[in-house]
Amino acid sequence: MTQTNHIGKAPNRVDGPLKVAGAAHYSGEFNVPDLAYGYVVSSPIAKGKILKIHADEVRALPGVLEVFSHENVPHLAWLDKSYKDQIAPGGSPFRPLHAPDITFNQQPIALVVADTFELARYAAALLRIDYEQEAHETNLEAKRTEGFVPGKGKAGFQPPPPPRGNPDKALANATHSIEAEYAHGAQHHNPMELFTTTVEWRGDGKITAYDKTQGVFNVQNYLTSVFGLKKEDCRVVNQFMGGGFGAGLRPQYSVFMAVLASLELKRSVRVTLTRQQMFSIGHRPNTLQLLKMGTNPDGTLASLQHHALHETSQFEDYTENIVNWSGMLYQCENVKLGYELAKLDIYSPQDMRAPGAASGNVGLEVAMDEMAYAAGLDPLEFRLRNYADRDQNVDKPFSSKKLRECYQQAAAKFGWETRSQEPRSMRANGKLVGMGMGGGVWDAAQKKSAAKAIISADGKLTVRSGTGENGTGTYTIMTQIAAETLGLPLEAVTFELGDTDQPEAPIQGGSWTAASVGTAVKDACDALGEKILKLAQKPADSPLKGAKYDDVEFVNGQLRLRLDHDQAVVLRDVLQASGETQLEADSSAQPNMAKQQPYSLHSHNVAFAEVEVDEDLGTIKVTRVVSAVAAGRILNQKTARSQVLGSVVWGLGMALMEETIMDHKFGRYVNHNFAEYHIPVNADIPHIDVIFVHEDDDIVNPLGVKGIGEVGMLGVTAAIANAVFHATGKRVRDLPILLDKLL
Ligand code: MOS
Repeated sequence: MTQTNHIGKAPNRVDGPLKVAGAAHYSGEFNVPDLAYGYVVSSPIAKGKILKIHADEVRALPGVLEVFSHENVPHLAWLDKSYKDQIAPGGSPFRPLHAPDITFNQQPIALVVADTFELARYAAALLRIDYEQEAHETNLEAKRTEGFVPGKGKAGFQPPPPPRGNPDKALANATHSIEAEYAHGAQHHNPMELFTTTVEWRGDGKITAYDKTQGVFNVQNYLTSVFGLKKEDCRVVNQFMGGGFGAGLRPQYSVFMAVLASLELKRSVRVTLTRQQMFSIGHRPNTLQLLKMGTNPDGTLASLQHHALHETSQFEDYTENIVNWSGMLYQCENVKLGYELAKLDIYSPQDMRAPGAASGNVGLEVAMDEMAYAAGLDPLEFRLRNYADRDQNVDKPFSSKKLRECYQQAAAKFGWETRSQEPRSMRANGKLVGMGMGGGVWDAAQKKSAAKAIISADGKLTVRSGTGENGTGTYTIMTQIAAETLGLPLEAVTFELGDTDQPEAPIQGGSWTAASVGTAVKDACDALGEKILKLAQKPADSPLKGAKYDDVEFVNGQLRLRLDHDQAVVLRDVLQASGETQLEADSSAQPNMAKQQPYSLHSHNVAFAEVEVDEDLGTIKVTRVVSAVAAGRILNQKTARSQVLGSVVWGLGMALMEETIMDHKFGRYVNHNFAEYHIPVNADIPHIDVIFVHEDDDIVNPLGVKGIGEVGMLGVTAAIANAVFHATGKRVRDLPILLDKLL
């Protein structure tokens, strides 16, 4: 008999063999017949107008099919007023090729389409364009005093809560206090897979877009709105993705370009962005953060104030939750949080792994370290003295919170007790050694999702939901949930995703997929289970006669009474006896608001990091990281651990390497390539220990999962920055910590 308890185990990725065999098809790998290729032409200026595009010179080249720009793009339905993509911020979404105005450097201003990619690229290089240039501003420093408080913001944006207590007075009366400004550079997502769309022309204005996206339905809505297509004529597919990190949450201009060309040329078209163009599709905005903190004589926080300013584009007010977390991670009666945007001549920023939280966490957790030192306390002890048992932002208890256990287990594993508090007091291998820590909090969100489950007479189960798999393990965990619900081996279950022909699921982001789609998958399988139970009860001598669904369980290919395992039927026998070739059931799962409403739903984590610093060279080597995460129930130990490993790498990149540098003279990102935009490589990655602290939580959702994709990044960056201070005695407050900042 096969084992059919799958949840919480560590099975390999069910899609792994397809990936390593090259049988997983990515958006740029659908080789449909008669494919034409588009190459995007990007603006070399940051602000101004296009006077003329000398397109005819290029159209004349043999093999060039068309040059699209604002000069010849036909009337499009163009985002009727009601249109918003699922996480569009305030303002109006960027419309490629809509007008001669240039509002950011690298703005896509033309698409050259040709019979081959090489020809399209060559022709694009020959395209002459006349511009009228205007003065631009791309420097956030210049807009320090021009910040404004954004309006409603995108879905999920929460304006900071109003101040509580008397933060200024409490700060003035504090025993110890600190005040400091923190900053980090802009960062770009840089997944390995470039943004690519292959549009298959199916005749009569019908298309299938194989698009790199974290949300096929979000893209379908965009396309129907822009091009006036009917939904049934516009199928969007993404079954595999070479990394998303948030870059694929909103429709990108690559899909617009490819669909435009396909509809106009009545032909299949592929558009692939270059690595350089990947720096024109949104980024984590650079922030300036002011932190003020004060303590009482007993080391509790007397006052906490956190204000953040970040950049946005001229046309959208991109928002993210940066400072709110500071009002809930620690207990404090006197809190003031502020959040402002400043408009620059850049493209809109975009969600990037743990958006907002990752930025605000650096300010908060480095300031907490500074405060601990000012108060003469060990940084861990300081956090324990300020542990929040309640979310003071909303004045509600947490549905579950085992951050204290995270602190204890990670500290023990790391050996925090071997640390001496004094900076520059530890050495090894001729280097300064530093140990630092930081922790964080992230939302445990659930979104409405649908799924369909189908079981055939031979006991093979197929479950579908139009969610995404950007490498996180969606295929695997959904297969585990479905298989366990109906008592099947993993091999008997196929989970299908990433297609607008499937039941609708939200964009894959916010770490909500496991909770949202997982619940829908479970519900669909339970609905199917109820149908199977009815069939099993048909025979007069059924051992399950009179049993309700709650009285039975599906285990090891059988359906049996929970309280009497001998009263059982074999699932396959039931299906075959029914005479049906297949049974199916649908579900649409929504959060249980009545159950959730009285609580604050969050995941938590802590990271401990050790660094070695070469004092002569300023080089920093992270030697160890221990990360502990409390995120409810872990569905798959292996894929969840991989998520946290990836998060630690992200945190390390933010601390020591990642920064997109703007040349303000040109208003252009100058290190827009892998040679000069530094991300960690294997040699930079230390030994990483991951600990999951289990939380029982049936309030967040029936599965008890909180999501694992983003919380693991929090704390890591600050832990490394704090370790660098501990090693060197130098407090670097602007990230990344490059070696020259230590010399
Ligand atoms: Mo994540 S930034 O919600 O893909």
